[in-house]
Amino acid sequence: MIGPSLIEHPRVAIHACTAADLAAELAARREGVDLLLADTPYSERTHKGHNGLLPDGRKRIRYKHWTPAQVDAFCDAWLPVTFGWAVSITDHVLAPVWGAAMRRHGRYVFDAPPVPMVVTGSRVRLRGDGPSTWTYQVVLSRPTGFDWRTTRGAYYGPRERLLMTGGKPLWAMRQVVQDYSRPGDVVCDPVCGSGTSLVGALVEGRSALGCDELMVAAGLAEERVAAYLAAGRDELGGPDDDAVEEASRRRDADGA
Ligand SMILES: C[S@@+](CC[C@H](N)C(=O)[O-])C[C@H]1O[C@@H](n2cnc3c(N)ncnc32)[C@H](O)[C@@H]1O
Repeated sequence: MIGPSLIEHPRVAIHACTAADLAAELAARREGVDLLLADTPYSERTHKGHNGLLPDGRKRIRYKHWTPAQVDAFCDAWLPVTFGWAVSITDHVLAPVWGAAMRRHGRYVFDAPPVPMVVTGSRVRLRGDGPSTWTYQVVLSRPTGFDWRTTRGAYYGPRERLLMTGGKPLWAMRQVVQDYSRPGDVVCDPVCGSGTSLVGALVEGRSALGCDELMVAAGLAEERVAAYLAAGRDELGGPDDDAVEEASRRRDADGA
């Protein structure tokens, strides 16, 4: 059983629970989602040596890397309750694991190669053992016979202010939502972090369902979505600022 949504609104629900629990709840209710949009943790290689902190003291949220077995378990739980496209934003190490898991569920998979997601102006860490790639890899799949949409050759746009390490720019989430769902669809991100995908879904006229196993992340998503619903714009995303650039220069200088 999952707890009640952190927000009461006809077009959005956010739960503080694991992805597996939310999928089980939907399966028990014989419900599903139109677009599964998952920006799950990346491989150990990308995470290793990363202190998980945003440089200027914004929300510090620590979460662990994922293993191939976790990707498999996630797909086993979620693909049976996903009626339309499933989109994973991942790294170079786990992209083939996502593709294989989606294929195992009888889906038509677009992963040869995955669609690159390039965030210009972001600084890629080359120390330690990470990262495994300097572009995010977008692995797509749809049920066979569900034959619609074209895709972009790449997702490409500028860095934005982030609320947590590993967060994605709002423009990227909006474009993914535009490409793989229709107005009125239910877009679900079961690893929603600070809720960028949920805001993206709402901006694009979809309904949003999200969860995160960390209360701090689910709470951040709830605050952000509530602010969007109240103001009609995203208060927390938007262009990046000099503080981030300056802090990452400092980190380089310190060898951190
Ligand atoms: C890359 S972050 C998501 C960032 C998000 N897209 C954003 O823009 O803010 C991955 C998130 O997955 C969550 N997570 C990891 N394993 C999970 C699980 N089994 N169930 C639910 N959430 C999980 C972590 O707590 C973390 O917040």
